[in-house]
Amino acid sequence: MSIRNHAQLEKLRAIGRIVRRALDQTAAAVRPGITTGELDEIGARVLAAHGAESAPPKVYGFPGALCISVNEEAIHGIPGSRVIRSGDLVKLDLVAEKDGYYADAAVTVTVGEVSEAAVALVRCAESAFRLAAKTARQGNRVYDIGRAVEQETRRCGFQVMRELCGHGVGQTIHEAPSIPNFHDPRHRTRLTEGLVITIEPIIAAGGGKGVLQSDRWTICTADRSLSAHYEHTVVITRGEPILLTAA
Ligand code: CO
Repeated sequence: MSIRNHAQLEKLRAIGRIVRRALDQTAAAVRPGITTGELDEIGARVLAAHGAESAPPKVYGFPGALCISVNEEAIHGIPGSRVIRSGDLVKLDLVAEKDGYYADAAVTVTVGEVSEAAVALVRCAESAFRLAAKTARQGNRVYDIGRAVEQETRRCGFQVMRELCGHGVGQTIHEAPSIPNFHDPRHRTRLTEGLVITIEPIIAAGGGKGVLQSDRWTICTADRSLSAHYEHTVVITRGEPILLTAA
């Protein structure tokens, strides 16, 4: 969506804050021995306490409040009986809705002792986000975001998962435009003040190809290499974007 007035911005800020709180509280509970289902309940409780609802179950029939993806699982992991262990990379991805407005954010949490490569991968997803956010301003094009993500990811020695993109958001989960995480000259739409999008590098330590699993939700890296994800919902302005899902 593109924000037309202050009231819309305030509603988006409100759901952005709730998504942040739910993600932070869930992330704080990640530890060896907890199940992804238990983590999902923590996030769902925070949403309920603030009068918000997870969007993927309503919009797509996703079986969980959060998408929780571990290690080689890149996105759309289903919360359940899986037990978190030391060394895991846990991706928490949440889209929630309140009063008809939606916000989307994701974070990667390292558990206990993780490899140096895993730490570098998580840091790279965050730095790719930060650099992409700097280019996400009125007048630049959608492909400028992807170019920044791709450049930083390559600089770190990793790969973008090309099939997985950011997107417009605000009045439902996935709106136009699609925001690829690589430089695609076809995506030349100009960014305009008030446009609400996600910027979400989803990157892999090995090849960037993804494969849908038999549960028909989870997408893993084809070569089972580690993946990391970092995401905020942002509002385009004439300067740096407003991060709706930041603290
Ligand atoms: Co998203």
